Amino acid sequence: MGSPSFCLRLFLFITCLVTLVIILSEYGWGPCSDRSHTIPGNLTILLWHWPFGPSYSLEGDVCWDKYRISGCRLVDQRSLYSSADLVVFHHRELMTGQERLPFHLPRTWHQKWVWLSLESPDNNGDLKPFNNVFNWTMSYRRDADFTIPYGKLVPKNRDTNNYSSTEDVIPKNKSPLACWVVSNYNLQQNRSLVYNSLRKSIKVEVYGQLGGRVLAPSNLLPTISRCYFYLAFENSVSKDYITEKLWRNAYQAGAVPVVLGPPPGDYKAVAPPNSFIHIEDFPSTKELGNYLSQLILDKERYAGYFAWRRSHQVKVYTDWRERLCSICPKYHIPPAQKVYHDLEAWAR
Ligand SMILES: *[C@@H]1O[C@H](CO)[C@@H](O)[C@H](O)[C@H]1NC(C)=O
Ligand SMILES: *[C@@H]1O[C@H](CO)[C@@H](O)[C@H](O)[C@H]1NC(C)=O
Ligand SMILES: *[C@@H]1O[C@H](CO)[C@@H](O)[C@H](O)[C@H]1NC(C)=O
Ligand SMILES: *[C@@H]1O[C@H](CO)[C@@H](O)[C@H](O)[C@H]1NC(C)=O
Repeated sequence: MGSPSFCLRLFLFITCLVTLVIILSEYGWGPCSDRSHTIPGNLTILLWHWPFGPSYSLEGDVCWDKYRISGCRLVDQRSLYSSADLVVFHHRELMTGQERLPFHLPRTWHQKWVWLSLESPDNNGDLKPFNNVFNWTMSYRRDADFTIPYGKLVPKNRDTNNYSSTEDVIPKNKSPLACWVVSNYNLQQNRSLVYNSLRKSIKVEVYGQLGGRVLAPSNLLPTISRCYFYLAFENSVSKDYITEKLWRNAYQAGAVPVVLGPPPGDYKAVAPPNSFIHIEDFPSTKELGNYLSQLILDKERYAGYFAWRRSHQVKVYTDWRERLCSICPKYHIPPAQKVYHDLEAWAR
């Protein structure tokens, strides 16, 4: 079967293939295997101080036991500083002066100091003293080295084939049109101005200190689930700052979020299309109010806002340990050499 020229071609082909395999195994399989990032054994993350005070147990292999993340050693003993690959500093305590950066300790060539904050720029104070200090950042921002959002949507378990129809996923017995839960009411805030204007065209039920109806935590989601719309108005308007008001209070409860916060593009980047109503998409609160009143009359169109619930569910992040463990699988992504010369400009 086969002519000599076929055999020759086959021989050359195999020779080339073998050479390619040898070259690849010698120099790595392309850009995905950057050796400078490979840490044998565990990656050690030292949390310099716990955010806002309370500490949590780091007994055993926490990242594996709780989150099935392997090769990740999360510690909070400062005595382990010299062996830490990353040292994470939560900003709040540095800002208040409760904690200080250990400038007196030498940094090994590959140790990274990580700036951690989930606050909006308004609440981070003056960042100039922190210029030229940190190598990496960890925040809700999409352009942080480690993005730790307040929440996200994850696919429902496909194995169980547990997809539901839209009717099943919308909470029943809705009655108030729009609800707002507010604890720190400040008339000067943009969101208060929008609320005061919006309530001229539709009825808004208000909970929290302003309405004199403070909700117990266990009552929050059941209350919101009875509202057609939830005013997910962020207390601070800045890039990517989308909090649990969207993920938990609106999506998880099952009310359509009316959002005030960063521009629509920031929401579209992380939330399903047609799952929220952005106030900037309306020329006035009057038109927004009209749209909301009309929408609930069109059952199918209203149900469209819940389409994602058939295939996805909400995941909210509340445990600092989970956020810290999530560094490990992404450790190789940010540039190995980096300094935030102007943290102030970046975080603004
Ligand atoms: C990695 O860290 C975990 C948790 O601290 C520990 O149980 C495990 O023995 C460590 N593995 C290596 C190879 O150091
Ligand atoms: C399927 O979905 C329903 C309703 O969301 C839920 O009650 C049930 O526990 C789910 N079943 C499985 C096997 O995930
Ligand atoms: C309030 O915010 C909205 C949306 O970001 C904006 O269109 C409006 O101009 C702001 N109003 C005031 C008074 O700042
Ligand atoms: C981390 O930042 C420090 C302080 O600016 C700098 O001296 C060091 O070279 C940086 N390390 C890496 C690995 O980028």
